[in-house]
Formats: sequence, C-alpha cells, structure tokens
Amino acid sequence: MGNMFSLQGKNAIVVGGAGGLGQAIAQGLAENGAKVAIASRNADSLQRAVREIKAACGLDISYYIADASVEASVEALVSDSVRDLGKVDILVNAQGFNKKHKAEDFPMDVFEQMFDVNVVGVMMCCKHFGKHMIKNGYGKIVNLSSVRGRIATKGAGNAGYCGTKGAVDMITRQLASEFGQYNITVNAIGPTVTETPMMTDILDSRGPNARKDLADNLPMKRMALPSDCVGPAVFLCSDASGFVTGNIIYPDGGLTAIG
Ligand SMILES: NC(=O)c1ccc[n+]([C@@H]2O[C@H](COP(=O)([O-])OP(=O)(O)OC[C@H]3O[C@@H](n4cnc5c(N)ncnc54)[C@H](OP(=O)(O)O)[C@@H]3O)[C@@H](O)[C@H]2O)c1
Repeated sequence: MGNMFSLQGKNAIVVGGAGGLGQAIAQGLAENGAKVAIASRNADSLQRAVREIKAACGLDISYYIADASVEASVEALVSDSVRDLGKVDILVNAQGFNKKHKAEDFPMDVFEQMFDVNVVGVMMCCKHFGKHMIKNGYGKIVNLSSVRGRIATKGAGNAGYCGTKGAVDMITRQLASEFGQYNITVNAIGPTVTETPMMTDILDSRGPNARKDLADNLPMKRMALPSDCVGPAVFLCSDASGFVTGNIIYPDGGLTAIG
C-alpha cells in the first residue's frame, strides 16, 4: 500500500484560505502533494498568503477572488477553478466570521451576517462544488466548524456563533448522507480557540490573562495553534479517510472530552 495520506494528483480549493486556519491548511495540503488554490474576498490578503506559503515551503499556490455568501460568485469560483485545474477533488470551507454580543442585545443584522458567511456560504460552496464532484464521482469536503457547534460557553455572547456552528455540524452530516453514494465524503473539523486574525481582538479584549486561562482550562495545557488543524485536514482530504464521512474531528486539546 502506498502513502494513503498523499494528495498527489488532487486539486484543492480552500475557501477562506488567506485566514489563519485556512492558510495553514492550504499549505499542509500543498506540502502533501495537492495542487491548491485559495479563495476569499480580499486580493491583498490572498496575495500575502500566496507569498507566505511560497516562502515557508517553496510551493506555488494560486488564488481566486470570491465571496462565498454570494451565489453567483460561488458559481464563478467553481467554473473558473474547473476551467483552470480541470477538476476539483477537495473543497475546504475555512471562511468565517465571529462577533460576540449578549443575546438580549444581539444586533440582528450582525446575527444574519454571521449566518450568511458561516452557514449560507458553506452550504453554497458545498452545493456548487458538490455538483461538480458528483459528475466526477469523487470528492472530499471539509467544513471548519468549532467546539462551539457542540458546547455552549459559560459566559454570554455566543448565540450567533454557536448557532452557526451547530448548523454547520448538521449540514455536514446531512450532506454526508446525500453525497455518500457519489463517493464524496463530507466531514468537519471543530477547533477550539486558536490565535488567528479572527480571535486576536476578542482575546485582547478579555485581558492579559486570557490566553493563559484558556490554556490552563485544556487537558493539554496549551493554546491551540493553526498547525493543529493541518493533520486532521490532510487526513480528511486523503484516501486515508475513504470510509469516514459525516464526522467531526476536534483538534481541541481535549476540551470536548471534559466539556
Ligand atoms: N480561530 C479560532 O479560534 C477558530 C476556532 C474554531 C473554529 N474556527 C473556524 O475556522 C474558520 C477559519 O477561522 P480563522 O480563525 O482562520 O479566521 P480568519 O483568520 O478571520 O479567516 C477567515 C477567512 O474567511 C474569509 N472570509 C470571510 N468572509 C468570507 C466570504 N464571504 N467569502 C469568502 N471568504 C470569506 C476571510 O477573508 P476575506 O475577509 O478577505 O474574505 C478570511 O480569509 C472559521 O470558520 C472559524 O469559525 C476558528
């Protein structure tokens, strides 16, 4: 048996691939042999991520400007990437948006915006790349969920974010059910708090001990790193996970074991 984790010959799109977790995953997929393209809304951050990945591992990846919460933009992303790559085997949904407000004060426009990016955007990418994968008879879809899809926080603020991630978990399971017959696996990764652009302001606002307190609360006694998502992503995108579908892997230092 060859290397069942190899992604040689596979083409991957990482939506949100210029973000903290998306960029680490995009690099990890490229390092394991995939041809990778990243996609999000901002050209500058996409170009920065392409440069940083090249500097880190010497590999070239490409990028597309796309808004995952606009259906026409997702359709254009599918047709452009299929035109350029010939086929897309792997989709990683690493886009996301996180704002905290007490439930009784939650601005509903922010709540809806979070659902647009975290839920509608994930569903639209799965829908349109899924249609392409069905034609090919092969696909690996990985959605970035969160421990917050499974356990609520003690403090206030997470009604929106937890709601979106619970939805991602159930969409992942339902799509696994619908797409399994086409040789497409659909799984999720559920990290705990990881230092990325999404979390830096939130962590800073919690005071000087926020990071240490988070680490102390985890069985593994350290904060999560973006690289902690890479192994699970490579596994879920490779043939090593050929019969794994509808699952959520938690690179969370043990939080869900005790949560
Ligand atoms: N960091 C954590 O602690 C943590 C924990 C658990 C789960 N997660 C989840 O992991 C995923 C990645 O989070 P992260 O920490 O890497 O966040 P991040 O650093 O803020 O990156 C998010 C990425 O999503 C892109 N994005 C946002 N809206 C988009 C849209 N409408 N269309 C396309 N791309 C869009 C952003 O780029 P543009 O703004 O340029 O479009 C950015 O590249 C998210 O789903 C998040 O909820 C994160």
